[in-house]
Amino acid sequence: MTAPILRRLADLRALTTKWHRKDEVIGVVPTMGALHQGHLSLAEAAKASSDCVIVTIFVNPKQFNNPEDLANYPRTENEDAQKLAPYGVDAIYVPDPDEIYPQGFATTVSVAGLTNVMEGEFRPGHFDGVATVVAKLFLQTQADRAYFGEKDYQQLMVVRRMARDLDIPIEVVGCPTVREPSGLAMSSRNLRLSSQGLAVAGNKHRIMQAIAQSLKTGTAFQPLATQAETDLLAAGFTQVEYIQLRCAETLDPVTHAKRPARLFVAAWADGVRLIDNIPV
Ligand code: PAF
Repeated sequence: MTAPILRRLADLRALTTKWHRKDEVIGVVPTMGALHQGHLSLAEAAKASSDCVIVTIFVNPKQFNNPEDLANYPRTENEDAQKLAPYGVDAIYVPDPDEIYPQGFATTVSVAGLTNVMEGEFRPGHFDGVATVVAKLFLQTQADRAYFGEKDYQQLMVVRRMARDLDIPIEVVGCPTVREPSGLAMSSRNLRLSSQGLAVAGNKHRIMQAIAQSLKTGTAFQPLATQAETDLLAAGFTQVEYIQLRCAETLDPVTHAKRPARLFVAAWADGVRLIDNIPV
């Protein structure tokens, strides 16, 4: 059975107030729809550790720095509701746009530091949009736990810091990236890749794993990054935006993998910008 779709905040609040009165733990999975196995794994994780689960679907205009990207973003609400049905989620919140950004909305939530690099550098304003909408979704759903994929690791760190700094009483849970058999990280953007583009994109994880392997033997990062850029372009990627090694906790750059680190790559294939990261 598909979960009820709620579009108004008052309806959502009526439900969450009832759940909280019964001491139910509420889990939320914020999404922009076009659900794939990665999102479904978050719904599954939420269902396993919360009593009541809300999946939110809202294509947030404030986090797109490119209008074309926003226009092309897939919108598949009916299919999304069908896909969620086997996971037993309790409600799907698809807010009308004015529930998130009412007339005269004038507030931006901005997390400093963590957002200056990588996605923040290449997508100006992106994380302000993410932090603002996620703060609203946390407050609107009144959830106790929120589930985010490690595929967007920097986003996970930003959201965690935002919730902590603003004393929003929610536990932000990170869940492992789900991959295609080729290693390609699942993403709604993959829907825009042709079969040739998918074949090219499938090389990225292999190239990243090769770097991780060499880092484990003590090799310095910079020459590996230079080689990886050459390898990505040779595999058919058209542009490499960044290849970076950063501390898994602070996201500060590191030159060797001496403590838990994360390798981050953003590159274009087939006209689609693809990001990924792996632990080192
Ligand atoms: O990861 C996403 O899909 C979005 O950035 C999120 C967290 C739903 C906020 O719009």
